[in-house]
Amino acid sequence: MLSWDEFDNDDGADISGAKPAASVIDMSLEKLDKDGSAAAHAARAANPSDSAGVAKAKAALDALDVAEGLAELEGAAARVAVDEKRMINCRADLNQLVPFKYDWAWQKYLDGCANHWMPQEVNMTADIALWKSNDGLSEDERRIVMRNLGFFSTADSLVANNLVLAVYRLITNPECRQYILRQAFEEAIHTHAYQYCIESLAMDEGAIFNMYHEIPSVAKKAAWGLKYTRSISDPKFETGTVETDKELLRNLIAYYCVLEGIFFYCGFTQILSMGRRNKMTGVAEQFQYILRDESMHLNFGIDVINQIKIENPHLWDAELKDEATQMILQGTQLEIEYARDTMPRGVLGMNAATMEDYLKFIANRRLSQIGLKEEYPGTTNPFPWMSEIMDLKKEKNFFETRVIEYQTGGALSWD
Ligand SMILES: [Fe+2]
Ligand SMILES: [Fe+2]
Repeated sequence: MLSWDEFDNDDGADISGAKPAASVIDMSLEKLDKDGSAAAHAARAANPSDSAGVAKAKAALDALDVAEGLAELEGAAARVAVDEKRMINCRADLNQLVPFKYDWAWQKYLDGCANHWMPQEVNMTADIALWKSNDGLSEDERRIVMRNLGFFSTADSLVANNLVLAVYRLITNPECRQYILRQAFEEAIHTHAYQYCIESLAMDEGAIFNMYHEIPSVAKKAAWGLKYTRSISDPKFETGTVETDKELLRNLIAYYCVLEGIFFYCGFTQILSMGRRNKMTGVAEQFQYILRDESMHLNFGIDVINQIKIENPHLWDAELKDEATQMILQGTQLEIEYARDTMPRGVLGMNAATMEDYLKFIANRRLSQIGLKEEYPGTTNPFPWMSEIMDLKKEKNFFETRVIEYQTGGALSWD
C-alpha cells in the first residue's frame, strides 16, 4: 500500500520543496469552507425554472432538522476514542469504523474478502456423469450426498438469518460488524453452492430443501438451532441487563460453537472423504471452499465470545459455564445421532463409531476454546487429514491460484 510519505516523494507534486506556512493553509481552508457553504445554500434557493415537484422538495429540505436527524444515530455525537469501544452495549458512535480496537476482526474481514469464490467456478461435469450412472456410487454414498445437501441447504439460511436479524444488531462494534457483513455474504454464497449442486445433479429440489422438516436427524439439529436463536431475533430484544447479556452470550455459543462449530463437521468430513476417493469431486470442492469460510466464521465467533467474557466477567458465572457445557454436549449428541443416521453401515473408510470419536475430539476443542473443561478426556482425532485441510498454510496453497486471480490490491501475500 502506498503511504502518504511515498506519495509525496513519488508524485513530485511539491516542486519547490517549500511548504506553505500553516496560517496560509488555514486561511485558504477557511475561505473554501465559507465559499462551499454559500454555494450549497444558493443551490437551495427558489428558481423560476423549478417545477412544482422540485419546489416542494426544496421546501421539505428547508424544514429538515439536521440535529434531530443525527440524534437518531447510535452513540454520542463525538469523535470516537478506542477506549470507548465495546463488544456489547457500546455508547460510542457505531458509524465510525476507526480507530480500530479489535484488529483481529478487521484482519478477518480482509482475509475473508481475499478468499472470495463463487459456486459456478467449480466444474460439476464429472459429478453429473457419476450421479447419473447406475453403478458409480453405492446406495450408502448416495444417501450421504442427499442427506448433507438436505441439511446444509437450509442450515446456511438459518445461520444467515440469525446473523443479520439478531447478532449484527446486538454486537456494538463497527469492525466486528464489518466482518459480520462479509460473513453474511459468504453464507449467501454457501446456500447458492448447495442450490447449484442440487440443480446440477437434477435432484428433487422440493424434497431436499424441505428435508429439515421431513428427516428426524436433520430436523432435530434445525430445531435445536432455532430454539437458541429465537429469543434474540425478537426485534424488541435488547441487551443491557445481566439476564439479556447472558442470553446473547448463550446465543453466540449456540450459534458459533455448536451450529457452525459442530453441526457442520460430520457432513464436511463425509463429503470431503468422498472427494479424496475421487468421487463427487465438484461437490467436494464446493464443500472445501465452504469449510475454509466456516473455520474463519468459527474463529471469529470464538474471539467475539472470549472478548465479551473479558469485558463482562460477571456474565461468565458457574451457571452460564454449566449451560454452555451442556449446549456443546447436546450439540455433540445430536451430531452423533446424525452420523448414525447418515452412515448405518461403514462407508468411505469411516463409520459411525469413528465419526463419534471425531465429534468428541471436536467437542473438546470447542469447550477448551471458550475456556471450559474438556468432557471427553483422552479422545484423539481419527481423521487427521481434516485438520490438514483446515490448516492455514495448506489452505493458502489450496487457494493460491484463485486468490491471485481475485487479488485487486497490494494487500495480500501468500508466502
Ligand atoms: Fe455457511
Ligand atoms: Fe458460517
